[in-house]
Amino acid sequence: MPTLEQAREWYRGADAVHDFDHVLRVLALAERIAQAEGADLPIVRAAVLLHDAALGENDATRARSGHHERSADFARQVLTAEGWEAARVERVVDCILAHRFRETTQAEKSLEAKVVYDADKLDAIGAVGAARAIAFAALHGNPFHREPSARFRRGDGLEPGEVHSAHHEFEFKLARIPERLNTESAKALGRERLQVLREFFTRLGEESQGRA
Ligand code: ADP
Ligand code: NI
Repeated sequence: MPTLEQAREWYRGADAVHDFDHVLRVLALAERIAQAEGADLPIVRAAVLLHDAALGENDATRARSGHHERSADFARQVLTAEGWEAARVERVVDCILAHRFRETTQAEKSLEAKVVYDADKLDAIGAVGAARAIAFAALHGNPFHREPSARFRRGDGLEPGEVHSAHHEFEFKLARIPERLNTESAKALGRERLQVLREFFTRLGEESQGRA
């Protein structure tokens, strides 16, 4: 099992949205959910430590698409070098490949992959989720709040000239996270966290317009 000190090195220079603190928060959640659900803890732990390890070189604009594949390859190298049995390495790799929001289907995931996915997604909502969405917007030069257009709200994309603010991300993606969680333990946490996040973005909108 990689140590925390080893894992910390893989995330050196990562941006505030995907840094080692993200990994530590996901680890704490994943261990809690894994225990409640009866998942294999070492598989879950290794997968969390490695899940974003190959994000790329240290800047906010680096390509995120495909990072799960690169992280999965990296995990294979690290765990094989540690002497893990091939079948267990592949169980970790499966968890890493399945952790993306837009690119996976739920149906055939292992229990461990479900736990890793749920813990990673929970870190995008709640108070932490608000901080990360704001940090992401700041890193990409986007505003915290803009009122989404009717077209965007229908799911038809941005109007010409409309910018994707942190609030857009909330409506487009974050508000739907709880319904996509796999495990009952994560769903309970997700409902509570979504309420916190919704209050934050509602209030952010009101304050942005001088209404509160
Ligand atoms: P994952 O890490 O699950 O692959 P993302 O990279 O899409 O998912 O999201 C990671 C974090 O970055 C989340 O907390 C999410 O809210 C935030 N984020 C991603 N895209 C945006 C965006 N366009 N605006 C604000 N926050 C974003
Ligand atoms: Ni990720």
